[in-house]
Amino acid sequence: MKNKLTRFKENEEAFNVIQPGKTLFDTIKGQWHNTFFQNNNDIVLELACGRGEYTTGLGAIYPDKNFIGIDIKGARIWKGAKWARENGHTHIAFLRTQIDHLDRFFDKDEVSEIWLTFPDPRPKKSDMHRRLTYPRYLNLYRSVLKPGGWFRFKTDNAGLFEYSLEEIQKLNWVTEVEFTRDLYTSPLLEEHHGIKTHYEFEFTAQGAKVHYLKCRFH
Ligand SMILES: C[S@@+](CC[C@H](N)C(=O)[O-])C[C@H]1O[C@@H](n2cnc3c(N)ncnc32)[C@H](O)[C@@H]1O
Repeated sequence: MKNKLTRFKENEEAFNVIQPGKTLFDTIKGQWHNTFFQNNNDIVLELACGRGEYTTGLGAIYPDKNFIGIDIKGARIWKGAKWARENGHTHIAFLRTQIDHLDRFFDKDEVSEIWLTFPDPRPKKSDMHRRLTYPRYLNLYRSVLKPGGWFRFKTDNAGLFEYSLEEIQKLNWVTEVEFTRDLYTSPLLEEHHGIKTHYEFEFTAQGAKVHYLKCRFH
């Protein structure tokens, strides 16, 4: 508990954590390039980022892009945000919010690419509308992503993967869908950049296969 409170306090003081109570939380929409990053480089989001392994991992590989990890849990994003500060990576930020409100934080076309990493599977049918690949969410992602921008999705959960693939293939504004049900033996592996998330480590240690899908939204 104490650890959590310490993390919350550090997030409050951290310039790279945008969260409720900070001015930028209410004003950042459409302003990420000018106000926060102060460059015009592409913005890449990691949704349901947890500790932000893709946000920080890709950020270390691509200093010429901007990365924002988004999650509702402050004690988790604390880790990636602290690492980014300690390494002087000002092109990496974290936003603490419900993904449901994504369009309150990003303008149309403000985002160039979206990663969705190991979202909660929500297997119950009654929870289907809370799956982060439910059509309402896919439309929300589209509303901030530049036309032709990549959407990339990783999960260990076969049920969530098949559901998501089916929903995505129904959309007439999606093209170039490519996927694998076993990323580690797939030619698509190079797009994984050698980055494993916290949940990915845990699930693959138990023998789960990583499913990966990418497509363009128009
Ligand atoms: C299974 S964890 C995966 C974390 C990380 N991507 C990983 O692979 O280690 C799912 C994450 O999604 C976040 N989450 C779930 N629903 C969310 C929502 N609607 N808005 C923001 N974050 C959400 C949770 O807080 C949690 O950190």
